[in-house]
Amino acid sequence: MPARVISGKQVAADIRRELAGRVERLRAQGVVPGLGVVLVGDDPASHSYVKGKEKACQELAVHSVVRRLPADAGQEAVIAEVRAFNEDPSIHGILVQLPLPDHIDEQAVLLEIRPEKDVDGFHPMNVGNLHIGAECFVPCTPAGVLEMIDRSGVDLKGLQAVVVGRSNIVGKPVAMLLLSRHATVTMCHSRTRDLPAVCRNADVLVAAVGRPQMIKGDWIKPGAVVIDVGVNRVEGRLVGDVDFAQASEVASAITPVPGGVGPMTITMLVKNTVVAAERTLG
Ligand code: GUN
Repeated sequence: MPARVISGKQVAADIRRELAGRVERLRAQGVVPGLGVVLVGDDPASHSYVKGKEKACQELAVHSVVRRLPADAGQEAVIAEVRAFNEDPSIHGILVQLPLPDHIDEQAVLLEIRPEKDVDGFHPMNVGNLHIGAECFVPCTPAGVLEMIDRSGVDLKGLQAVVVGRSNIVGKPVAMLLLSRHATVTMCHSRTRDLPAVCRNADVLVAAVGRPQMIKGDWIKPGAVVIDVGVNRVEGRLVGDVDFAQASEVASAITPVPGGVGPMTITMLVKNTVVAAERTLG
């Protein structure tokens, strides 16, 4: 039987309906949630992601401001934008679109974001809190991944979870979240030996490597839940890191690309912004 397709569009729509009510309640108390975005350079993918974020804010009546800087902007100029958002009471959440140009020290910029406005969850304070299981902003894509696993109906406790990709944005935080739910977590990367064999152990497989259709059907354990975080453009069309046609013959549930994790990421960003605004009311 082909795998059930977990629609990120559908799950995101459900969460957005719930968020609309929370935004309404904030408004009644005189607070309009606000997101400040810093975008440096002209990477088309980054511009497209930021447009998506602006659109989602608009749809949910969340205020958003985007500061666009040229690719040759200096680190101090980028930090100045972050500091201005830190001081602006109409901005509850700040996001610096990554990657930044090579001449800018990404960690130095992220360190400038006030942790209570760090809706991306990239400040070391939030990263550390995630690791020790304290309250924090969870990065948006990993939060979306967990939400989709939950909606697939699996109880993670005791399951073998394999994460392919060890980025700070996706792989590492996803692994921490899976661990916090009592999964047995294996992290894989470019040096992992016999990756197909490790993947074949996975009850839950999360692919976040950025290599089009790398994960084949015979890498997947029958009945596994497969979450595909990859967004790769191949000959003008978007494909994931998983060979969807093959994998959906073996898995029990799988996320598509597009329409899977993507819409969830943006929705979790708006959710974190609403949470940040709610916290200002105490
Ligand atoms: N670039 C790719 N994904 C992300 C993300 O989730 N947040 C930010 N800030 N930049 C990204």
